[in-house]
Amino acid sequence: MEMVSIAVVGSGYVGLVASACFAEMGHSVICVDNDETKVRLLRDGGVPIHEDYLPELLNRNRANRVEFTSDLRDATQRSQAIFIAVGTPQSKTGSADLSYVDAVASEIARSIDSDYKVIVEKSTVPVYTNEWIRRVIERNGVPRELFDVASNPEFLREGTAVVDFLHPDRIVIGAESERAGKLLSSIYEPLTSGAYYRLPQSVPGCCGEKNPPPFLLTSTKAAELIKHASNAFLAMKISFINVVANVCEAVGADVEQVSRGMGMDSRIGPRFLRAGIGYGGSCFPKDVAAFRHVAEQLNIDFGLLKEVETINEEQKQRFFQKVRSALWTFRGKRIGVLGIAFKGGTDDIRESPALDIVEQLLKEGCTVSAFDPAAMERAKEIIPPGQCMRYVSDPYAAAQDADALLILTDWQEFAELDLDRLHYTLRYPIVIDGRNLYDPDEMRQREFTYLSVGRPISHPMQDAAAAYRLP
Ligand code: UDX
Repeated sequence: MEMVSIAVVGSGYVGLVASACFAEMGHSVICVDNDETKVRLLRDGGVPIHEDYLPELLNRNRANRVEFTSDLRDATQRSQAIFIAVGTPQSKTGSADLSYVDAVASEIARSIDSDYKVIVEKSTVPVYTNEWIRRVIERNGVPRELFDVASNPEFLREGTAVVDFLHPDRIVIGAESERAGKLLSSIYEPLTSGAYYRLPQSVPGCCGEKNPPPFLLTSTKAAELIKHASNAFLAMKISFINVVANVCEAVGADVEQVSRGMGMDSRIGPRFLRAGIGYGGSCFPKDVAAFRHVAEQLNIDFGLLKEVETINEEQKQRFFQKVRSALWTFRGKRIGVLGIAFKGGTDDIRESPALDIVEQLLKEGCTVSAFDPAAMERAKEIIPPGQCMRYVSDPYAAAQDADALLILTDWQEFAELDLDRLHYTLRYPIVIDGRNLYDPDEMRQREFTYLSVGRPISHPMQDAAAAYRLP
């Protein structure tokens, strides 16, 4: 294996995980961030995000293969490949704000002296960003033969980021020159050759020595589009099943059965067909908007994406109406909330539908007791604790004397609650589940009023047949 010297600019989810994983794959990595406090924290052994395996990987490689710095110039000069993994936030129009990418590209350009470098965009960016980065570097006087710009979109999910990185469904490289393509394929060679999976300490996952991940070499524009199109498609799948769930509710069918049946069709596939309260997070909302904006700029009508966004917004409102229908009025009601993160397994609350719902409950005059295994510290920065908003230390404390319990995030531990304890802890045994974590029949037998998404409502004492009604 050829060891490559790599710089990764940005130590957010993608940058930090990529740094740790590249080091784990045997490369020498310099992770750059302009936030000195974060760099100090990382140098001192801290890990600013909640991700399985990340602390182990960083500890294992911190001494020899991964270093942290705020000096982009030095990092550029000492590296063969420089990955840009800085944020691309959403601007007011919905387009991606590329000012961080622009600033980093200029600084990289000013740091290139006599050695050839490949600058790789890893942040999710609109098509043509590659071209812009190339222009910026040329404008700064770097001769064309000293650099290439490539695209290597990252598909990792938060919460399973390390496993996703080391066991990807595919590795996509967009490159226009053979030289850049070769350098990038040698970076991923430990995965594509299967060699990494033979190591005794390798992180377990679905790839292995005999089934390494496929490597797809494309043009840079295609690579940029693969990322946006994939995220938009997955968001569309979620919005689609959410509308199907609403149809199920109207006819008295169970959306879990419907999505299982649909998912068995290998052309559709079972994943991302879980109905709920809508998608959130740092990627889907932003990427759908950015891709829609790209299409608009190109005079292409991609109204489908607008619809995906509208459905996602309405799904939250629909859930809120469901809570209203169970409680009648809101003012003075005490609500237990399980989950604030945008999905289970992460402390991230960006664009979290759970957070929106909590804000709406508070606005309507409810008192909320919320619990989340990882996201409470972050939530407190948005909704400070006070008389109406309490953060508690476990699910039962959230349910204590509540008029209803809401499940808003799909944490595994919320699917394993002691239902008898929950029943006597609640003031009224009403559970409104935005993530379909429980079986409606079981909830009925346990004497709960149980509302979920796309499934019949269960009432205590009611026989199962009564839950299904004809329109
Ligand atoms: C996503 C993409 O999956 C990943 O490939 C990309 O690199 C970044 O964006 P992430 O935002 O970490 O990853 O979360 P993901 O697991 O994809 O979930 C996104 C949102 O969709 C969450 O709010 C989740 O709860 C919701 N979701 C997901 C559903 O509502 N139903 C599903 O079936 C799947």
